[in-house]
Amino acid sequence: MNKMITWLQLTGAVIVVYLIWERFRQWRLAGNLPGPSTVPFFGNALLFLGCDVQDFVDRVTQLQKRYSNICRLWLGHQLIVCVAGSKTLEIIFKSNDNLNKSVHYEFYNDFLKGVFVAKDEKWRGLRKIVNSVFHNNNVENQLNVFNNCFLVLSEVLEKRSGGETFNIDPYIHRCLLDIVCKIFASSRIDIQRKDGVTYSEDVRLATQLTNHRFAKIWLHSDFIFNHTAAGKLKKATINKILDFGMDVINERREILNEIASSTSEDVNPNSKTFLGQMMDYAEARNFTDRELSMSISDVLIAGSDTTAGAISYMIMMLAMHEDIQEKVYGEIQDIFGDSKRPVELQDMNRMQLLERVIKEVLRHCPPPHIARRVDNNIKLENTTIPAGSTLYIMLYKLHRDPQYWSHPDSFYPDHFLPENIERRPKYTFLPFVSGLRACPGQKFSLMMMKIMMVTILRKYRITTNVQPSEVDLSLVFMLEISNGYNVQLTLR
Ligand code: HEM
Repeated sequence: MNKMITWLQLTGAVIVVYLIWERFRQWRLAGNLPGPSTVPFFGNALLFLGCDVQDFVDRVTQLQKRYSNICRLWLGHQLIVCVAGSKTLEIIFKSNDNLNKSVHYEFYNDFLKGVFVAKDEKWRGLRKIVNSVFHNNNVENQLNVFNNCFLVLSEVLEKRSGGETFNIDPYIHRCLLDIVCKIFASSRIDIQRKDGVTYSEDVRLATQLTNHRFAKIWLHSDFIFNHTAAGKLKKATINKILDFGMDVINERREILNEIASSTSEDVNPNSKTFLGQMMDYAEARNFTDRELSMSISDVLIAGSDTTAGAISYMIMMLAMHEDIQEKVYGEIQDIFGDSKRPVELQDMNRMQLLERVIKEVLRHCPPPHIARRVDNNIKLENTTIPAGSTLYIMLYKLHRDPQYWSHPDSFYPDHFLPENIERRPKYTFLPFVSGLRACPGQKFSLMMMKIMMVTILRKYRITTNVQPSEVDLSLVFMLEISNGYNVQLTLR
C-alpha cells in the first residue's frame, strides 16, 4: 500500500514538473513575440473587458497594426498569437501540422459535429468522405441543379421586382440551401416555394448566440451559459436546425425505400450522395438521427450560408457601383446575347470580369478570422509560435492590408487583373484558406456565384439607395452587412 502511494506521489510530481516545464517553455517562447505589456493573472484580458466578439476583432486588429503582423496576447493563462502576414501564413499553410481547430470551436458542438469541427483521426475520416463527394460529383448534374434552382429564384424575385425596395438576402439564402440539399442529399423538397423554412435565419441566430460566448469568459462554462436567456434561446433554435436536418434524412430514407421497390432501370441505388455516405458512417457508429443531423449540418451550413452571404454582398456592391454592373452585364451579353440558354461549363472561363468582381467580394467579406490549436511549435523566420497556444489567423486584416492592396477599403475588382495578381506576394488572398484543411467547396462555390449572377443580371437591373459609406459590417460566420441588403430590381 505504502509502495503504491509512493508511486502515485512520484507520478503526480513528474506530471506537475512536466506541466510547469511546459508552461515555462511557452512563456519563454512567447516572450520573444511582440505584444502589449501584461498584468499579473489577467495578462492582456483587461484590454478586452466588456467586449463582444465584434469589438474583440476590432481591438485585435488595432493591436496588430501596432505590433506588425504578429501580435501575442495573454488572456489569463491562454496564449493567443494573432497573425496576418503573407510570409507567416505561407509557413503555416504549407505545413501539414497544426490542423486542429482551436478549443473555441467546441462552442458549436451542440449543432455542428461533422468535418468542420472534428479533430485528428475523426477529421481525417470525415474529410475523406467530403473529398470523395466533391471528387465524384458529376459537374453536368451540378450545373443542371444550379440552373434550375436559379430559375426558380428568378421567378420568385419577379414578384418583388418593379422598383420596390426589399431585402434580397433571405431569398438568396433559401435558394442556396435548396441547391445544397439537392446536390448533397438528393432532396426533392422545394425549399424556395415552401412556406416556413427558416433554416438560414435559425443558423444565423444560433451562430450569433455562440459568438456571444467567445469574449465573455464566464459564459465559457456550459452550465452557466445553458441557464442564461441566450443559452435557452440557443437550445430552442438548435432544435429547429436539427429538425430540418432530420426532415432531410427522413426524406432520403423514403426515397431509398422507393428505389429499393422500384423496377425502373433509371435509378442507380449505388450512387452515394454525401448524405448517403454519412448515413453509412452513422450506422456503423450507432448514431441517433439527431447525431446524424449534427454531423451533416456542417456541410449544409458551410455550403449554403457562406456562398449566399458572398452573393448578397456582391448584389449590393453591383447595385452601388452601377458602372461595374453594366460592364458585367456587357460581358454576359457578349457570351449569351439575347438567348435564354442555360449556363454551360465552357462559359465559365469567359466570365473574366465577373470573376474579378467575385474575388473582390471575397476579399471584402471573407470569414474574418479562423483559429487553430498549435500542437507543435511553428518556427518562423526570427521567432517561434509555441505549442499550446491558439493561432488566430486574421483574414480580414490580411485582405485590407495597404501593403498588398492599392485600394484596401474600396470596391476595386482591378485588384485581380493578372498584372496586379503577379505583383502581389503569394498568400495575400485566402478567403478559402489553404493547405490540407482548406475549404473543399471552393470551385463549387465559385461556379454557383457565377451562374447566380448571370441569372439575375440577364433579367434585372439592380439599384439601391444605400451608399458605400453606409455599409456596416458585422460578424456572423462571414462578415455581413448589418443594415440589410436592400435593393430594387427592375426588369431589363
Ligand atoms: C464563399 C464561399 C465560401 C467561403 C468563403 C468558404 C470559406 C471556408 C473557410 C475559410 C474554411 C476553413 C475554416 C476554418 O479553418 O476554420 C472552410 C471550411 C469548409 N468549407 Fe467552405 N467556404 C465557402 C463555401 C463552401 C461550400 C460551397 C462548401 C460545400 C458545399 C463548403 C464546405 C466547407 C467545409 C465542409 C469546410 C470544413 C473543412 C474541414 O475542416 O476540413 N464551403 N470554408
